[in-house]
Amino acid sequence: MTQRRIQVCLSPALLHLYDIKQSIVVVIDIFRATSSICYGIENGAEAIIPVASPEICRSYCDTGFLLAAEYNGEVVEGFDFGNSPFAYEKEKVAGKTVVLTTTNGTIAINESKEAGKIVIGSFLNLTSLCQWLQTQDENIILLCAGWKNNFNLEDTLFAGAVVSQLKTFNYKLDDAGIAASDLYEIVKHDLSGYLKKTSHSERLKQLGIERDVEFCLNLDLTTAIPVLENGKLVRLQHLPVGSNVCSS
Ligand code: MLT
Repeated sequence: MTQRRIQVCLSPALLHLYDIKQSIVVVIDIFRATSSICYGIENGAEAIIPVASPEICRSYCDTGFLLAAEYNGEVVEGFDFGNSPFAYEKEKVAGKTVVLTTTNGTIAINESKEAGKIVIGSFLNLTSLCQWLQTQDENIILLCAGWKNNFNLEDTLFAGAVVSQLKTFNYKLDDAGIAASDLYEIVKHDLSGYLKKTSHSERLKQLGIERDVEFCLNLDLTTAIPVLENGKLVRLQHLPVGSNVCSS
């Protein structure tokens, strides 16, 4: 068997350099899109439909779906809610379909559409995601949504956390993956303190929503892995590692 690869794509602007058709793409937008998606799917949302703009989101008006739109960290006027993980609690989303658009996260998902498979990662589902990835034969691309095509630290650190968990399984790493994992190892004991330096933490602080930042750094709060199927993010159906189809 050929050695599997993990590559880290540090910005959606670089995605054209990668062979996404043959790979699993993990989309990462820690503050806050992919954290909220993981939390919503864990809490029983039937599906989350990621769309590229508030205009497209609005076109779902007559569907009975919940419409969520965020731009530059704020809820877009006229929408039910935005991108705060606290808007994705069970009471709000269980059994519902949410149509979601955000500044970077949902754009990164839409730009990955040609991928062999698209799944969603965040600190909330880190271990569950890594356990599943490790059972797959495909190469992995960790796509950092960044900020308007720029590099950001929080998505890169999460990519580093994934590489750190998977590196014992003999993957071939690229330089971005090595750098991300080395940085994660240096700061992992105080992720929250370190990430306070980031531009998006600062932006969210200005908006008075620091508690969202703290929430998004919860490690392994959830086990659901959102996967894109027919344009909708749904819960990936898979057997937990170590379980046996024949065991009762
Ligand atoms: C995004 O998709 O750009 C982010 O999730 C922004 C935010 O924090 O709302």
